[in-house]
Amino acid sequence: MVVEDREFREGEYVLLYMDERRRWIVKLEKGKKFHTHKGIVDLDRVIGKLPGITLKTTLGTTVYVLRPSLTDFLLKISRKTQIIYPKDMAVIAALADITPGSLVVEGGTGSGALACFLASRVMPTGKVVSYEVREDVQKVAEKNVKRLGLEKFIELKLGDLTEGIEERNVDAVVLDMPVPWRVIPHAKAALKHGGFFASFSPTINQVEKTVEKLQEEGFVDTRALEVMVREYKVKKGETRPHTRMTGHTGFIVVARRA
Ligand SMILES: C[S@@+](CC[C@H](N)C(=O)[O-])C[C@H]1O[C@@H](n2cnc3c(N)ncnc32)[C@H](O)[C@@H]1O
Repeated sequence: MVVEDREFREGEYVLLYMDERRRWIVKLEKGKKFHTHKGIVDLDRVIGKLPGITLKTTLGTTVYVLRPSLTDFLLKISRKTQIIYPKDMAVIAALADITPGSLVVEGGTGSGALACFLASRVMPTGKVVSYEVREDVQKVAEKNVKRLGLEKFIELKLGDLTEGIEERNVDAVVLDMPVPWRVIPHAKAALKHGGFFASFSPTINQVEKTVEKLQEEGFVDTRALEVMVREYKVKKGETRPHTRMTGHTGFIVVARRA
């Protein structure tokens, strides 16, 4: 996303950054105060100012006011389901070659985090068509997509991916749902020759079933992997990995339609 360099307006979301662990996305409204355990922030003082301003809370703690990035938003969106994390989204988008102009079929939509991330890759000329089987879940995703202003690039469809994919000449099919192997024949019909199939699954049993079905359907260049990110605490003379890290999110399978 392009970081807009203009004054903050009433009604938009800002990132209040205090430190690594204390960061909040807040909607700017006249007369609104934001309470933290280190004092209160007066949001009236943000409207009309440029990103990068600093404020002091009533207890004297510094708060930086920035425009939220896409990942700031995605990690804070309303959730009806588990979402895919940035480390996995980024690798899926890179390995499935999702670029501006791509037509991507994605599902299940869930909370819409992956759909929004993929939309930010395919825009301004591409599109993400996202299928979800549950209407209540789709409503939450719709709200999230609108909040991020990505509705021009995401078409939300209510439907069961195991029953079929309507689109044709698709560049990539990306799945985050319990039975991706049951979608593979439909993905094959939807994809261009050379198009990419990618799926994200929490268990290795799902990976085995997915790869087996990909082979049966003649997909090639199949890879299975997981992404591990180890963050560091950086301090002169004391730099070392953080004690805790995310041990497991899921496995990624990528293949191409021959
Ligand atoms: C883990 S969530 C997806 C989260 C999403 N990737 C995100 O980042 O927000 C899985 C979703 O797949 C949906 N789903 C399950 N089976 C489906 C199917 N056969 N067709 C379409 N959606 C399905 C579920 O209802 C659920 O919302």
